[in-house]
Amino acid sequence: MKALILSGGKGTRLRPLTYTGAKQLVPVANKPILWYGIESIVAAGITDIGIIISPETGEEVKTKTGNGEQFGAKITYILQAKPEGLAHAVKVAQDFLEDSPFIMYLGDNLIQDDLNTFLNNFKNKTLDALILLRTVSNPSAFGVAKIDEKGRVIQLIEKPKEPPSNLALVGVYFFSKTIHEAIANIKPSPRGELEITDAIQYLIEQNKSVEAQTLENWWLDTGKKDDLLEANRIILDTHLKSNIQGEIDSSSQVIGRVEIGERSKIINSTIRGPVTIGKDCYLENSFIGPYTSIADNTTLKEVDLEHSVILQGAKVIDISARIVDSLIGQRANIKESKQRPKALRFLIGDDSEIELL
Ligand code: DAU
Repeated sequence: MKALILSGGKGTRLRPLTYTGAKQLVPVANKPILWYGIESIVAAGITDIGIIISPETGEEVKTKTGNGEQFGAKITYILQAKPEGLAHAVKVAQDFLEDSPFIMYLGDNLIQDDLNTFLNNFKNKTLDALILLRTVSNPSAFGVAKIDEKGRVIQLIEKPKEPPSNLALVGVYFFSKTIHEAIANIKPSPRGELEITDAIQYLIEQNKSVEAQTLENWWLDTGKKDDLLEANRIILDTHLKSNIQGEIDSSSQVIGRVEIGERSKIINSTIRGPVTIGKDCYLENSFIGPYTSIADNTTLKEVDLEHSVILQGAKVIDISARIVDSLIGQRANIKESKQRPKALRFLIGDDSEIELL
């Protein structure tokens, strides 16, 4: 069994955050989203992992993630010259996959369930494809499954205007080698992509064994700001352990589960967990509220912040209003003068400079 993680693509939905960087590397609780997928694949006993990368962000993914040693895996990077669809990515990976059955994992997805239950079902029944479904309120944003009264999948449609159900396709799939034959028999969709939904539909029409399992636990497609904040909230809620390595002065207060990295300094501030703060950060006269992740090298002074994600190297200084539900990009610089606005809500890209005057 092998695994193929898709970490190419365009990442248009998190713009401007992903103009410069890979959306799969955006951190959730200070760890790249992509790494959660790798860890969950390794936890299911699969260590031979291929990662699809794009020419634009591939080097960054490779440099950060490495050869797999830190995860106990062997990672092979596979370049997809253009983002021509999920099925196209499988085609490009054929030399790596050979005839092996594999898990395909979309690099911007996070699921709570451990993969073993699904993997065992897939293996025990020697299925051609096992797909995972989850009820959602906005099915038009996903691949959607039409199911018969016995729960069998009869049709899969990518982002339908009029969805036949509210069952979305989760970005984790299990395939046998027959998927390659299916992909060889499909044509690009009207949006110009080789769709994995069309390839699975082909398998269904050829009477191959395709099953669906419904997820009960959370699943997040982190492609948009609010989904990313929600992923951050859930991971901090369920996984964060207290671990203080930096310095906290005597006039500061740390309450609840809080992680503070090496060489970070907390001066006259209150931190109410769950909160994770990276290495080499400087916080002064600030309040950091629950569900906040602050990456390495960040400076926060006179700031009141909660339920937000702050990326590496950002500076946020003298902000009178509380910052909530915000995603602040790498090296972004925010300052306020004495004349104060009433409310702020941000989606701020890398290298932004903002002064509220
Ligand atoms: O998140 C679940 C949804 O993921 C499914 O419900 C849809 O059926 C499926 O098509 C997919 O939809 P998205 O619009 O979210 O796909 P996106 O373009 O964001 O690509 C998903 C991941 O795959 C992302 O990490 C980028 C990567 N990718 C994408 C394409 C199109 C590639 O590596 N190569 C590609 O050619």
